Amino acid sequence: MKWAGGKTRLLPRILEQVPKKMSTYAEPFMGGAAVFLAVAAERERGERKFERAILADRNEDLVACYSAVRDSVEDVITALGDYKYDEEMFYEVRGRDPSKMTDVERGARLLYLNRTCFNGLWRVNSKGKFNVPFGRYTKPKIVDPPKLRRASELLKDVEIRHEDFSSVTKGLKKGDFVYLDPPYAPTSDTADFTAYAKDGFGLEDQQRLADELRRLADVGVHALLSNADTTLTRSLYKGLRHETVNVRRSINSDTSNRGHAAELLVMNWDLPKKRARR
Ligand SMILES: C[S@@+](CC[C@H](N)C(=O)[O-])C[C@H]1O[C@@H](n2cnc3c(N)ncnc32)[C@H](O)[C@@H]1O
Repeated sequence: MKWAGGKTRLLPRILEQVPKKMSTYAEPFMGGAAVFLAVAAERERGERKFERAILADRNEDLVACYSAVRDSVEDVITALGDYKYDEEMFYEVRGRDPSKMTDVERGARLLYLNRTCFNGLWRVNSKGKFNVPFGRYTKPKIVDPPKLRRASELLKDVEIRHEDFSSVTKGLKKGDFVYLDPPYAPTSDTADFTAYAKDGFGLEDQQRLADELRRLADVGVHALLSNADTTLTRSLYKGLRHETVNVRRSINSDTSNRGHAAELLVMNWDLPKKRARR
């Protein structure tokens, strides 16, 4: 799945910070779930241990899609077989109402639109309707059965929920680990934070998340967060252990803004010790 903010490029740095052993692994802003899929593959090879995994997102289509791939992957593959890379079909499918569909139909629709829309972006209008135009590709792979079957294996026994991130984090206990990858905070320092709410995730949500990360530290839940490196995020996570990573972003609706961007990784455990006075 192509997803804005996909973590594939940042993955090695993120994986270094994920503990080898945890009770529950949670990813409440799952998006493309690149980090979970890597961690689950390592678990399979015996390189990591967790007993339970929770994935969540506020995007209902995405949640339906992951549930369908987990539970009925062959049906998803069959449903995708009906789709073609064709502009007329694209707009017809885009116009369908997903709320009346089964998870399999809804998931297949999302995968089809994701593979054929402009830039592989998932963007909805104020009414929650997907509104990205048709994309130009030479031969897009609409269905990739081996990849879907592999994803299905890795998702087996995973709890997949349609929830706000806080419903997931509130249930975590000492010894659990959570990776938090919220919609990016605005990069411009002059942006109007109250009006700006990418994915409906505004300044209040960024603050709520920073507070939650500190609360998790107090109860012994290790939380790793990634966000854009901005004045705002630096101030939200002040005093916590962090590192900056330069990444190349491939998906950005504003093409002038593509290219390199600094990303901040924040860890809520092993906090930096105050420098001893000489
Ligand atoms: C930056 S993306 C995650 C990218 C993902 N980690 C990846 O590797 O592709 C942020 C995700 O958070 C979801 N989201 C936005 N607000 C949310 C909320 N309040 N609670 C949970 N998920 C939310 C969006 O639907 C989106 O999928």
